[in-house]
Amino acid sequence: MSLPDFGVYHHSTRKQSEILRESVRDLFSHSFDIAGIRKGEEIRVLDAGCGSGFLCAVVASYFPNAQITGIDLFKSGSLRDLSLDTAVRNMEILGFSRRVEFVTADLTESLKSLGTFDLIVSNLVLHNLGQRRKKAFGNIVEVMKQGAFFVYGDLSTSNEPEGSDSSHDVLGPLRLIYEQRLESKSQYRLQIFRNNIPNR
Ligand SMILES: C[S@@+](CC[C@H](N)C(=O)[O-])C[C@H]1O[C@@H](n2cnc3c(N)ncnc32)[C@H](O)[C@@H]1O
Repeated sequence: MSLPDFGVYHHSTRKQSEILRESVRDLFSHSFDIAGIRKGEEIRVLDAGCGSGFLCAVVASYFPNAQITGIDLFKSGSLRDLSLDTAVRNMEILGFSRRVEFVTADLTESLKSLGTFDLIVSNLVLHNLGQRRKKAFGNIVEVMKQGAFFVYGDLSTSNEPEGSDSSHDVLGPLRLIYEQRLESKSQYRLQIFRNNIPNR
C-alpha cells in the first residue's frame, strides 16, 4: 500500500517539510477544538491553496462528515512537483475521495461559484501573493457563512494580527479569536477568525 505524498515546500527538504506538517497538523487540530465546531457536524470546508491535499486530509480525519473543497492553481511552484493527479491520488490512498473534491481556481479571482462555507483553512499560501493578498482575503471573506471560521496558518514576522493593518481592511468583518505561533518555527503563526456579519 503506497503512502500519500504531500510534497516538498520551497526552501525545504522532504524531511523538513514532513516535520513542519506534523506540527501544523497538531496546531490546526487544536484550533478546531478551540473553534468548538462539533466533530460530527456536516460542514462545508474550503482549503484555500490546498497543494497536494495535506490540510484536506487533516480536516477530513478531524471532521468525519465534512465535505471539503480544495482549490489551487495546481502548477508546480512553492510546492515542488505539485499536480492535481497527486492530490487526487493522496485522497484515494487515505480513503477520503468521497468527501474531498479539488477545483482548479485562483484565490485572487471571485470564489462565489463554489458556494459558501462553514470553515475555511489555509496553510502557507497567502504570504506568497504580495499585493494580491488583499484581493484573496476579500474573496475568502465573501464565501464565509455567517458564524463561519477562517483558520489561517502562514509565515509572518509581524506581531500585529492580520487585518489590523489598514491595507488588509478586507478582513474587517472578521473577529480574531485566537492566535498561536509554532514553537519550532516562530515565523509560523496560526490565527482563527470568525465571521459575524450576515451574508450579503
Ligand atoms: C507552500 S504551498 C502549500 C500547500 C498546502 N496548503 C500545504 O500546506 O501543503 C502553497 C500553495 O498555494 C498555491 N497557490 C499560490 N497562489 C495561489 C492562487 N493565487 N490561487 C490558488 N492557489 C495558489 C500554490 O499552488 C501551492 O500549492
